[in-house]
Amino acid sequence: MKVMPASKPTILVTGGAGYIGSHAVLALQRQGYDVAILDNLVYGHRDIAERALKAELIVGDTSDRALLDRLFAERDIAAVMHFAAFAYVGESVAQPAKYYRNNVVGTLTLLEAMLAAGVKSFVFSSTCATYGVPDAIPIPETHPQRPINPYGSSKLMVERILSDFATAYGLRYVIFRYFNAAGADPHGLTGEDHAPETHLIPLILFAALGKRPSISIYGTDYDTPDGTCIRDYIHVSDLASAHVLGVDYLLDGGVSEIFNLGNGNGFSVRETIETARRLTEREIHVIEGARRPGDPPVLVGSSQKVRGILGWQPQYADLKLILSHAWQWHQKRHGMPAS
Ligand SMILES: NC(=O)c1ccc[n+]([C@@H]2O[C@H](COP(=O)([O-])OP(=O)(O)OC[C@H]3O[C@@H](n4cnc5c(N)ncnc54)[C@H](O)[C@@H]3O)[C@@H](O)[C@H]2O)c1
Repeated sequence: MKVMPASKPTILVTGGAGYIGSHAVLALQRQGYDVAILDNLVYGHRDIAERALKAELIVGDTSDRALLDRLFAERDIAAVMHFAAFAYVGESVAQPAKYYRNNVVGTLTLLEAMLAAGVKSFVFSSTCATYGVPDAIPIPETHPQRPINPYGSSKLMVERILSDFATAYGLRYVIFRYFNAAGADPHGLTGEDHAPETHLIPLILFAALGKRPSISIYGTDYDTPDGTCIRDYIHVSDLASAHVLGVDYLLDGGVSEIFNLGNGNGFSVRETIETARRLTEREIHVIEGARRPGDPPVLVGSSQKVRGILGWQPQYADLKLILSHAWQWHQKRHGMPAS
């Protein structure tokens, strides 16, 4: 008689119809987990969640306590991965209330509903924006957190809430502080589709596709080898695989931990544009402008801790590979055939 492997439990993925969440859903499914997505579709994509990932999509908001109570009562959820948030830094400066309400109050409601249902394992998307302007590179997890915008503050507030909930209510969490997520599923099932788009790599590729006239470089006089800012781009599928390790770790009884998630390697804006030029063999028109306030010259995270404790290894650390997966995705998503 054939013995079937024991099925893995269900993971609730909030924001699972968005960019990083959808890659985490895929990674969980590939490891045999059942997944339920909660997404209000303000920025998420129904077609990706339902058609590409074939996942269960519950359209709703993390601040809807009655919906959350039903959702937990009707399913046997073992852990929550929480991606749902607003993440536009500039908008957070202009509309802080919107950010604190969604990112902090929404998360608080979710945590209370989870705990009421007896679910105590939580994986949280935090950000390098909680560090503010770094004193040291690569940034370790122990670096002081001094966010310089409401978006970063909203994420830091949730980090503090998680720590207090762990002490008081026995919640166990893994906090991942991401650096710059980039790339797309190597098999083309999902990828980045933000509107508006503010991230460098898709903007460069939109210029290559002719969807925008040019790409701007903000500041060419930084104290870096080519004068442009350096950022740590991590492939979104590598981010996703870390999340699966994070859930495995919590379900195995691991204690609460905080990890940076980055490549541990920086790439300059010019280097990124040049690599995209060579890869796409397209014209990419560049406009050089002044520095933007609040942009640190270098943001690179140390990934030693996540490698050591979770055994995480990035599979796609190479910038060209990150760009090539993003390029495949954007051509497909925007209906532009490769030339
Ligand atoms: N993209 C990055 O480089 C990056 C870097 C650091 C941290 N993060 C964090 O990672 C997470 C995911 O980022 P992303 O780039 O995938 O963004 P995204 O906008 O593509 O995904 C977020 C998803 O959450 C949903 N959502 C937002 N508020 C919700 C709510 N209250 N209830 C239900 N659904 C809600 C949106 O519809 C969207 O599908 C965010 O928490 C973000 O702050 C992202």
